[in-house]
Amino acid sequence: VKTPWWRTHFDDRYFELHYPLFTEARSRAETAGIRELLGLHCDARILDAPCGWGRHTVLLAEAGLDAFGADLSVDLLRHAPRTVPGYATPATADNDTDDRPHRPHYTAADIRALPFANASFDAVINVFTSLGLFLNDDDDIAALREARRVLRPHGALLLESMHRDDIAAHYAEYDRWTLPDGTRVRVKRRFDPITGTSHEHLHWRRGNEHGQLQHTLRLRTATEIDTLLRTAGFGRIDYYGSWHGHPFRHDHHSLIAIAR
Ligand SMILES: C[S@@+](CC[C@H](N)C(=O)[O-])C[C@H]1O[C@@H](n2cnc3c(N)ncnc32)[C@H](O)[C@@H]1O
Repeated sequence: VKTPWWRTHFDDRYFELHYPLFTEARSRAETAGIRELLGLHCDARILDAPCGWGRHTVLLAEAGLDAFGADLSVDLLRHAPRTVPGYATPATADNDTDDRPHRPHYTAADIRALPFANASFDAVINVFTSLGLFLNDDDDIAALREARRVLRPHGALLLESMHRDDIAAHYAEYDRWTLPDGTRVRVKRRFDPITGTSHEHLHWRRGNEHGQLQHTLRLRTATEIDTLLRTAGFGRIDYYGSWHGHPFRHDHHSLIAIAR
C-alpha cells in the first residue's frame, strides 16, 4: 500500500521552506478574524486541528483562550511555541506539564481520530486549506464528523480554505520566490478538472543544496464544501469571504465557513 503523501510531506524541510512565508502580522490578523467570527468568550476552550507549527494556537492562548493544537506531524509540532510572549518565565518555558491557563497544549493526532472527549470544545478551527488533503470524500467527512463530535452543543467549527471557483479563475501553473536566507523556490502546478485536484511540484535550491517536494490537493467549490459539512451533520452554516466578515462571493480568495 502506498503511503499517502500527507504522512511524510510535512517535515522539517517543509517547515524551513514555508515558515518564512507566514509573517507574525498575518497570523495575528487571521487569529483576530477567527476570534471575531466565532464570537468566543474570553476563556473558551478551542481546538486548532490541524495546527501545523501552532502559529494560530499560540496566539489564541495569548488572547486568554484555553487553546489546544493537534497535528499529525511531530516534526512541525516540535517547532510550535510552548509559551506565550510575556507570560512564561524561562524557568517554566520547557515544562510541558504546566497546565496553567494561557499556555497552548499540543497533541500529535490524526484529525479523523481526535484524542478528546465528546462535547469538550466551544470551537474547532481547521485553517489554511487543511481539508482536501486526503483526496477522498469519506476521509474528509470523517475529519468533519470528528470536529463535530468534540464540539459542545452551542459550539462551532470554523473552516477556512481556498476554493475551486477562485483557483480555476487564477490558476498559476508556474510560480517562483526567494526566501530571506537566499533559498530559491520554483513551483510547477497542474490542475485536473475531473478529479478537482491540484498537483504541485516544488523545487528548491540553496547554494549547492537542492531538493523537491510534491503534493496533491483536492480543491472543492463552495457548493461541494457545503455538501460535505451537511453530510458531516452540521446544520446552520454561515459563509464569509474574508477575516473581516464580508459575505462570501465566488471571487473571494478564501472561503470561511462557520458551521454549527
Ligand atoms: C496546510 S497545513 C495548515 C496548518 C495550520 N492550520 C496553519 O494554518 O498553519 C496542513 C497541516 O495538516 C497536517 N496534517 C496532514 N494530514 C493530517 C492528518 N491526517 N491528521 C492531522 N493533521 C494532518 C499537516 O501536518 C499540516 O500541518
